[in-house]
Amino acid sequence: MGRLITNQRILFHHPSAQEGAWLRALSEALPDWELVKWQPGEAAADLAIAWAPPQQLLDEQPGLKVMFHLGAGVDALWSLRRPPQMQVVRLEDAGMAEQMVDYALYAVTRHTRDFTNYEQDWRAGSWTPRRVRPNHEWQIGIMGYGALGARVAAVLQSRGYGVHAWSRSPKHGTGVVHHHGMGGLAAFLQQAHVLIVLLPLTADTRHLLNADRLAQLPKGAYFINMARGALVDTDALAQALTSGHLAGAVLDVFEQEPLSPAHPLRQMPNVIGTPHIAAQTWIPEAVQSIAGNIRAWQDNNPLHGVVDPLRAY
Ligand code: NAP
Ligand code: GLV
Repeated sequence: MGRLITNQRILFHHPSAQEGAWLRALSEALPDWELVKWQPGEAAADLAIAWAPPQQLLDEQPGLKVMFHLGAGVDALWSLRRPPQMQVVRLEDAGMAEQMVDYALYAVTRHTRDFTNYEQDWRAGSWTPRRVRPNHEWQIGIMGYGALGARVAAVLQSRGYGVHAWSRSPKHGTGVVHHHGMGGLAAFLQQAHVLIVLLPLTADTRHLLNADRLAQLPKGAYFINMARGALVDTDALAQALTSGHLAGAVLDVFEQEPLSPAHPLRQMPNVIGTPHIAAQTWIPEAVQSIAGNIRAWQDNNPLHGVVDPLRAY
């Protein structure tokens, strides 16, 4: 039986150059609903679609039933006071997994094929071929085996790399070497020539990669963070990169974004960074996913991507 809907309005909050495109695409996909750009003092609604909403929106809408978050990670929303009954629904993949795969292939091969060294050789006028190690000699560790990590793992495995994954709960029959929980973390880290971070940022994972855990990686390991900056202690990371314990890093995310122009990480020749673009929220894929979920909600069917309020991801 369908749900009794009290009003057909959805609040939208994502101030950006693409705001108009979002509103047009959502209105087309949800013709029975009125999409309202949220402003302070807006009348009550059951549903909202937002990226990192302000506290004021949540405070003024205590009756919100579902917040559709325009991203995969909900850490920014989790740090706010939320109406207790409000479900949070995140984007599950929605076009992000393939972007993450491309980013991971770039970042991994940057190290495994020595591209950082060749860039430096090129500028120095040097001509120095290095031995190419076959992919199966490399062990890649992927932290997080969810919608994004599992896809990255599958593609790296198909390219012949040794792939290990680490998650909270055990997984079976995945084809990769699986580790789980805090008890499995040291064994996972100790074999990772390349570490890819694809975890959500929660109270359990904040600064999980501290100096002690970075020291558990093999000497010369390569560090790739495509998830959230605060999963790693930045000072400890900089120290491990300076001491040579880590050979280098590709970083898409930082504890403070944008990263300051004067930050020491910017001066390190073995580090390259990007401005939080590893996987962007694409309008058509996100709208399709959200509209499908709203129809499911109207029909009292289960939604995809509901955030567990206890785990916070
Ligand atoms: P997801 O589907 O929720 O998967 C999360 C994975 O992390 C799961 O395998 C989960 O374990 C594991 N995990 C969570 N807490 C853990 C803990 N305490 N210990 C061990 N494992 C833990 O998330 P996703 O969709 O793959 O996205 C991952 C993150 O990527 C997002 O949260 C977001 O921060 C980031 N992201 C970044 C960008 C970017 O452009 N840089 C774009 C999109 C997403 P279980 O499988 O056992 O539950
Ligand atoms: C982007 O960082 C996301 O979480 O979707």
